Amino acid sequence: MRFSRNVSSLEPSATLALSARARRLREEGHSIVDLSAGEPVYGTPNFAAEAGIDAVHAGRLGYPPNQGVPELRRAIVDYLAETTRSADLDPAQVLVSAGVKQALFNCLFCLAGPGDEVLVPTPCWTSYRPQVRLAGAEPVLVETTWEEGFHLDPERLEAARTERTRVLLLNSPNNPSGAVYDAELLGAIAEWSGRHGVWLLSDEIYRRLRFGDGPAPSLLDVPAAPERTVVLDGVSKAFAMTGWRIGFAAGPRELIGKAADLQSQTTSGAAAPSQYAAAAAFGRREEREAVIADFLERLGGTRALAVEGLADVPGLEIRAPEGGIFLWTRVTGSTDSADLADELLGAGVACVPGEAFESPGHLRFNLAVDRETLEEGIRRVRAFFEQG
Ligand SMILES: Cc1ncc(COP(=O)(O)O)c(C=O)c1O
Repeated sequence: MRFSRNVSSLEPSATLALSARARRLREEGHSIVDLSAGEPVYGTPNFAAEAGIDAVHAGRLGYPPNQGVPELRRAIVDYLAETTRSADLDPAQVLVSAGVKQALFNCLFCLAGPGDEVLVPTPCWTSYRPQVRLAGAEPVLVETTWEEGFHLDPERLEAARTERTRVLLLNSPNNPSGAVYDAELLGAIAEWSGRHGVWLLSDEIYRRLRFGDGPAPSLLDVPAAPERTVVLDGVSKAFAMTGWRIGFAAGPRELIGKAADLQSQTTSGAAAPSQYAAAAAFGRREEREAVIADFLERLGGTRALAVEGLADVPGLEIRAPEGGIFLWTRVTGSTDSADLADELLGAGVACVPGEAFESPGHLRFNLAVDRETLEEGIRRVRAFFEQG
């Protein structure tokens, strides 16, 4: 079949494809420990689910305002004021979309097009490169390394910059590496981008899931962050609400307005009941913080289990993540991690190969699973590598 040039280089999401494959194998009767998808198993917090159900019962089921219901945009602004140094965001600066995925695409599409370049530090989330391409712009990959803890080196950014550089995509805590950028590094990046007029799109979806001292620094914490800064976050990870499909972008009013115009011509925004559920998740402070503390404790437990259980596996190097929900590992002696992930699936464990994150030679394992699942996964991974 002939498709348009718009989608000539489009491939389906590698991570979604892998989980679908794992599910299929399971349905055929195979025993598969699925550590592939970036989906927490903790389940939607009751108080947020109830708010969504209440919205349905109250008949709040008409088209919501395209940019997001006022209750949710207010709750997001208040949440950001409480948990970052952003004091004066206005709800007009917030766009609610069906997940960070859509919010990010809306902003990218408005900022970068044919002839523009977008800097993408690698390893990176699978959808960044395809989204840049869909916008017609050119992704320029900027490597971060295992040896440097995957912390972005501003000098490498500068080396990759050209006159056509429009946007830098940031993601800390990082999927898949688990790297967290400290305030100093974020400050240096912000200073660099301000100097060169490069937009910063900061995907902070794992910000609250940091091991150690409170949330990971946000670009909103950087005192002199340039005007051209957009922060993206949502309910999928910290609240385990993936299926509700709520994410947001917060940034300059003009860009948010344009991204909302784009959304008005594509989806008319996110589902109304989901927005009320998300308003509760962000807005009800005590319940929200209790949920995040509980998730973090469970995640800290599985992280410790994986770090200990896989520490001395031959052929696999591991690095304890600073944040996020993944264990990122390096395969020694092979760069074809796609093949390896395939073989590992045959041995009963689904994980995602580094190729999906522009970083062959690595494997990513989801840690936001229950302990028993992870224990069995570790047992199988060990057995697989020990057999060579
Ligand atoms: C870095 C990153 N950004 C965005 C998303 C997508 O989030 P959402 O479910 O809000 O679309 C994910 C999900 O895996 C992610 O890992």
